[in-house]
Amino acid sequence: MLQIKSLTFTHKYDLRVILEDFQLVLNPGDKAVIIGEEGNGKSTLLKWIFHPQLTGDYVEAEGERIVQGEKLGYLPQELPEKDREKTIYEFLCEEELFWETDSRELADMASKMGLKTDFFYSDQKMRTLSGGEKVKVQMAKLLVGKPSVFLLDEPSNDIDIETLEWLEKLILETPQAVLFISHDETLIENTANMVIHLEQICRKTKSRYTVYIRDTENIWKAEI
Ligand SMILES: Nc1ncnc2c1ncn2[C@@H]1O[C@H](COP(=O)(O)OP(=O)(O)OP(=O)(O)O)[C@@H](O)[C@H]1O
Ligand SMILES: [Mg+2]
Repeated sequence: MLQIKSLTFTHKYDLRVILEDFQLVLNPGDKAVIIGEEGNGKSTLLKWIFHPQLTGDYVEAEGERIVQGEKLGYLPQELPEKDREKTIYEFLCEEELFWETDSRELADMASKMGLKTDFFYSDQKMRTLSGGEKVKVQMAKLLVGKPSVFLLDEPSNDIDIETLEWLEKLILETPQAVLFISHDETLIENTANMVIHLEQICRKTKSRYTVYIRDTENIWKAEI
């Protein structure tokens, strides 16, 4: 279980409250999507859940994060600077379990993503990959690491339709919890059981969030 208690983010430069008194419980198997306009703090929230230090230089965070016993797998919105010069193979080798993964399993994963079967052994630099290829290689590294909770920041950006279908199936069928950010309404409708809507209101001076849960009749209801 992943739990966030009373989380408030204040931007360190302009003292804007980006998120206020945010609560979340994510149980195994939950598929929760974070939506909202740009700049509303979606990526900041996911980064902080993965590793609070990642947001320490620009937000003051107050609140509690309970992730005991969970292995978090995080896909950032953009490939981090430190990974740009690595080759695909070097990047994947950083995941210890890559060494233990059967090469047939890797070839199978590559082909399901529409990549050449030996793509994951390539010495092509990460920075030179197309947007979609970057997502695929990072997703492969996550999957090899077998996380118990997936945190995916806009995984549906830049990928082709076949890979989008693969992603949809992955989110839907994995027994693990998935917390993801997406603007893709079809992906959301087909996979999510919880929608977290982040808003900046009163001319962006206040933050508000609403959680919607899908009931047994498939109707979205706001949680109070
Ligand atoms: N590294 C940073 N330094 C300073 N401010 C930042 C940094 N990263 C994000 N911010 C600010 O924090 C706020 C929330 O940004 P965040 O990236 O979380 O938004 P988002 O909802 O993910 O937006 P988008 O939909 O564009 O990805 C924004 O006002 C942004 O300008
Ligand atoms: Mg973002």
